[in-house]
Amino acid sequence: MTGSQSHGIHNIKGPLAADADGARALMGLRMPTGATSVVGLQFGDEGKGQIVDLLTARFQLVVRYNGGANAGHSVHIGDQKFALHLIPSGILAPHVLNVVGNGVVIDPAQILAEIDALRQRGVEVGDNLKISERAHVVLPYHKRQDALMEQVLSDGDGSRIGTTGRGIGPAYADKAMRSTAVRMIDLLESARLAARLDHIVRIKNAQFLALEGLCRGGKESLEPCPPFDAVELTREFAAYGDRLRPMICDTSALIQDALASDRQVLFEGANAVMLDVDHGTYPFVTSSNCSSLGVYSGAGVPAGALRNVLGIVKLYTSRVGGGPFPTELHDGTADGLRDRGNEYGTTTGRPRRCGWLDLVAVRYAAKLCGVTALGCTGLSVLAGMEQVKVCVAYRHGGRTMSGFPADAAVLESAEPVYELFEGFDGPVDGCEDFESLPEAARRYLQFIEQFVGVPVAMACVGRRRDQILLTGPAASEV
Ligand code: IMO
Ligand code: MG
Repeated sequence: MTGSQSHGIHNIKGPLAADADGARALMGLRMPTGATSVVGLQFGDEGKGQIVDLLTARFQLVVRYNGGANAGHSVHIGDQKFALHLIPSGILAPHVLNVVGNGVVIDPAQILAEIDALRQRGVEVGDNLKISERAHVVLPYHKRQDALMEQVLSDGDGSRIGTTGRGIGPAYADKAMRSTAVRMIDLLESARLAARLDHIVRIKNAQFLALEGLCRGGKESLEPCPPFDAVELTREFAAYGDRLRPMICDTSALIQDALASDRQVLFEGANAVMLDVDHGTYPFVTSSNCSSLGVYSGAGVPAGALRNVLGIVKLYTSRVGGGPFPTELHDGTADGLRDRGNEYGTTTGRPRRCGWLDLVAVRYAAKLCGVTALGCTGLSVLAGMEQVKVCVAYRHGGRTMSGFPADAAVLESAEPVYELFEGFDGPVDGCEDFESLPEAARRYLQFIEQFVGVPVAMACVGRRRDQILLTGPAASEV
């Protein structure tokens, strides 16, 4: 985007909201009942995994409620990095029961590969992992459909979404279609699975023939793929069902029981609010309700179950795939953010698009989710920059907009209005508390908390568990 406006450098006085209720509630220190949700407020990859990993110390259940293997949550312990796609980030903490809820779409081969990889590295996976019998299954034909649709769209008007190719959209589409869906419970009875797949595969093969015909260059322009065989698929997926059987159960009953007995439950959001199918930058979104509103239907818990909502904000923005991104940069600053922030997809390895923090989007996302505290990541990536910009409004059609538009085309042509901040010189990765952060970094965080209207409870100065700074009372009691 060009033509940005800017105002003077900000100098806001006063401490961070160290004793704000939201921050205390979040840590579960003053209000031990009620559940917490952790949700990304941007386009994904905000660093949710690191924060969930830290919080697991005080939670007994960690629950995934949306998305599938499109998510890539990195957790670092010491020098070791774990990349999780379907298994909740609590799996590394021995006392945590990890739950994959009904709102997740599960690729059984992927979840089994994650289980095996974790076990090989000495992490126990057994009774500490439960999977919803109601969750829908991602099958190989969903990935084919994902790739075909992307190809047809690029050959057509070029409006491809830039998906992760994990079959997420087609699996959720089949869930809504009903007659072509397979749920985890179906994997447990091979006769029923065989009958379902027989009729589904017939439909899919016919659809794929038609779609292949629509691709420029026809079928030859695509990776070769023979028609799907229902018998083979049944054999493969019934075997996955057998391996996963001990973990498959009614997870919403399990979570409801846990809540009723005052156990601490953490809902781990995948993807992010700007990718939410209802509230994100539609149609450049994923196919699930990634916002904390998705917790209720995606985990099967009643409205009111959530006490605390922790919104994760990366202090700059990244986006993978297509779609509007008003604060995107195409210069050396973007390259610097990408390099220092290692902004390459955990799931696909794609370089991420990078730009300044967009507080219009963050405020919209925070209000939607009822965020009670903010967790800020990426401070160390900004360290050393001369100047930092933050988008506080958009200019479109001669008007200044402070709200978030529903129309992706409006957002695409919107120009950001920026506030400028002095950069923070020197590294921040050795800072051990908020007080030792450079003054400019504190001012930046204060501005965010005032603009969004929610206290900052955490700030990450690096990717390790011990590099997450907590505000006042929370910090002293951890
Ligand atoms: P985590 O949990 C970043 C993006 C994809 C694409 C769009 C739709 O790691 O933050 P899909 O495969 O879901 O149909 O793709 O959504 N996307 C993500 N981008 N982080 C994620 O998850 C994402 N999950 C989906 O790049 O633009
Ligand atoms: Mg990711």
